[in-house]
Amino acid sequence: MDAIRVRGGRRLEGIIPISGAKNAALPILCATLLSDGESLLRNVPALRDIDTTSALLRFLGRKVDASPPLVRVFAGSDVRPEAPYELVKQMRASIMVLGPLLARFGRAKVSLPGGCQIGSRPVDQHLKGLEALGATISVQRGYIVAECKRLRGNEVVFDIPTVTGTENLMMAAALAKGRTTLVNCAREPEVEELGRVLNKMGAIVDGAGTDVIHIEGRDELAPFDHAIVADRIEAGTYMVAVAAAGGDVLLENAPLEYLEAVVAKLRQAGVEIGREGSSVRVRRGEKPLRAIDITTAPHPGFPTDMQAQMMVLMCVAQGTARIAETIFENRFMHVPELRRMGAMIDVDGHTAHVHGGVPLTGAKVMATDLRASASLVIAGLVTAENEETDVLRVYHLDRGYEHMETKLANVGADTTRIKGEAG
Ligand code: EPZ
Repeated sequence: MDAIRVRGGRRLEGIIPISGAKNAALPILCATLLSDGESLLRNVPALRDIDTTSALLRFLGRKVDASPPLVRVFAGSDVRPEAPYELVKQMRASIMVLGPLLARFGRAKVSLPGGCQIGSRPVDQHLKGLEALGATISVQRGYIVAECKRLRGNEVVFDIPTVTGTENLMMAAALAKGRTTLVNCAREPEVEELGRVLNKMGAIVDGAGTDVIHIEGRDELAPFDHAIVADRIEAGTYMVAVAAAGGDVLLENAPLEYLEAVVAKLRQAGVEIGREGSSVRVRRGEKPLRAIDITTAPHPGFPTDMQAQMMVLMCVAQGTARIAETIFENRFMHVPELRRMGAMIDVDGHTAHVHGGVPLTGAKVMATDLRASASLVIAGLVTAENEETDVLRVYHLDRGYEHMETKLANVGADTTRIKGEAG
């Protein structure tokens, strides 16, 4: 397994290009199951999760030509509507083939996604919603078995906002007979992006990106050509990297409009952030950063996918920051690793108190989920010049960040990939 070696003490200067959004590309790839013909996705990031989804689509019978940033999906009318455990266990988002397979082919057998490091990650809301559209669903030997000759539009009220749950139901409703209203939806930009694609395919989706979405189902949908929106979490991650290490970096094509909660907190901490055309400039000088309190929430609140990164920033700020994680039950796995680098962090249930101003020192650390792995790379950047940090099990990072070590090295960081490091 590879590792990333980071040496500290470098300011970051230059340009970082922001790639297409992983969490938009994944549901949109699943949406290709809803039509025949050839769909073309542009600005797709080169990530492990894209490879996994491509492999899953091939297993289902699609022909996929994945050469990021271009991915072509060729769809015939035959399909094997089964998503096996071996693929689903690699990526929980595979659950998003369930809605399209059921809507298009009337049946689906999808492995229950296991939990993961950050939580048990149930899919009860997905199943409840599909049953409301008329599906018969049972769980047999770890598989979800769903059947329905033709889904019928209905009202679905989610008990909690769920991103992939909302997306699964949008795709199912797009081929259901009649009108569906989804209530208490996730409002993430990636949900809005999926709505744009479903409308391109001929569905009538209104309200994607808000908490109520109306979908007029069609008898059939058309393939599409779509350029994926930029990745707000990748952009936010590099904003934090510049804020933590210090420097002046232009983030090319960063979607500032989707990062309001993150930008507000970074500005409050003392980071300069401003739009320059379609890019965003991030600056942090010698002035010490202020500790700020953060509570994660569904969009447009502060994203849980930025929590680990902000925790590292608070390690280098003056004062004590209170970070509350409200979305996932176990998303502080980066804390013991940061403590190994000298961080002073107390955890009390779902709240962490970060005592800043303590210098971090290099160490071998272990990535656990993709955002935690990004935070450990950032922690390596803020150590002193002669300190060395090896972030092990970097396959987690490769799931969601395209060539992170290269993008950082191109702006002056000392980051290299160590092939095959035991970890
Ligand atoms: C999506 O996961 C993202 N993944 C996650 O990003 C992100 O952290 C998460 O949304 C929250 O923003 C993709 O979009 C592929 P949820 P998802 O369903 O859809 C509970 C990353 O780093 N819940 O919105 O799985 C759930 O346990 C990944 O890129 C149920 O109880 O998250 C959690 O507590 C990590 N029942 C909360 O809702 C359900 O049926 C929000 O989960 C579904 C979810």
